[in-house]
Amino acid sequence: MSDLEEVRKIKRTALRQIEKADSGRAVEALRIEYLGRRGGRITELLRSIPSVAPEMRAEFGKAVNALKAEVAERLKARKEQLAAPEARPAAVDVTMPGRALRLGRIHPVTRATREMCEIFGRLGFEVVEGREVEDEWHNFVALNIPLAHPARDPLDNYFLRDNVLLRTQTSTVQIRVMAGRKPPVRIVAPGRVYRPDTVDAGHSNMFHQLEGLWVEEGVTFADLKSVLAAFARGFFGPDARTRFVPSYFPFTEPSAEFYASCLLCEGRGCPACKRSGWLEIAGCGMVDPNVLEAVGYDPERVTGFAFGFGIERPAMLKYGINDIRLLYENDRRFLGQF
Ligand code: DAH
Repeated sequence: MSDLEEVRKIKRTALRQIEKADSGRAVEALRIEYLGRRGGRITELLRSIPSVAPEMRAEFGKAVNALKAEVAERLKARKEQLAAPEARPAAVDVTMPGRALRLGRIHPVTRATREMCEIFGRLGFEVVEGREVEDEWHNFVALNIPLAHPARDPLDNYFLRDNVLLRTQTSTVQIRVMAGRKPPVRIVAPGRVYRPDTVDAGHSNMFHQLEGLWVEEGVTFADLKSVLAAFARGFFGPDARTRFVPSYFPFTEPSAEFYASCLLCEGRGCPACKRSGWLEIAGCGMVDPNVLEAVGYDPERVTGFAFGFGIERPAMLKYGINDIRLLYENDRRFLGQF
């Protein structure tokens, strides 16, 4: 092996060992092994320079000196590296002000819906959901709404195609529930309904209703009155007064409109209640025998009542909102108030 080759070999081993050294002591041991004054491998090479053949001496001397410098340099670097404190993750400064969480809010329509369902829940009603895309049987036919009825005018409905439309009322859920189970049935069904109405402060082409239905042996109009009156007191407060006004709906007989005393003026009369002191908040009545028959119930055995609340109107009344459009604009400055 030539002397130069020897230099290269020592260099390779030395650098590898320095790299692997894992403590200050290991580095020191290597320093002694290579650079130790007595017997160090590189020290020995340095000492051997004068005895190298003259024509090789200069080159060899240069290589050994370079090796000594490099190994000394690497040993020093490795020693410092091992002595340096471990890089630590940034400590948590517990005195920094916390980052404020932005809490979401329940939308007023959702809140009113939940309150309504909760009150009816206490009265023994189960909450169910129907579907927003319906067929004519559930939206009209089974509800005793004849073909000639103005509500069926194609211009008053969002038809998606023949026989398929966005429901115009949650009364469809009465049919869905009764067609699927035997009496007794005591449900409320909240959800969206759609009508191509012109949008203004009091109207929207999409709004929410809460349908109710109780069918069982011996259910009477007296039950209807007491359930709705109990609801109004639960939702508007113990002083809420109510009244029933005779009306007409195809799927109930007899039918009534249900009014609550106006909260804003306490019944004295104001613009919100058109100076009457009363606000109509639901339609209701005794389920028409034709409807019971349409779903296979025996009208001689069971009777029932149904009701349909708008959700926006009572919500607006309760929370003091005067324009229905505010509910759908998703302006957080508005929604954040509830
Ligand atoms: N579905 C009716 C409407 O949208 C409201 C209604 C009236 C529902 C009388 C009922 C009811 O269940 O008995 O105008």
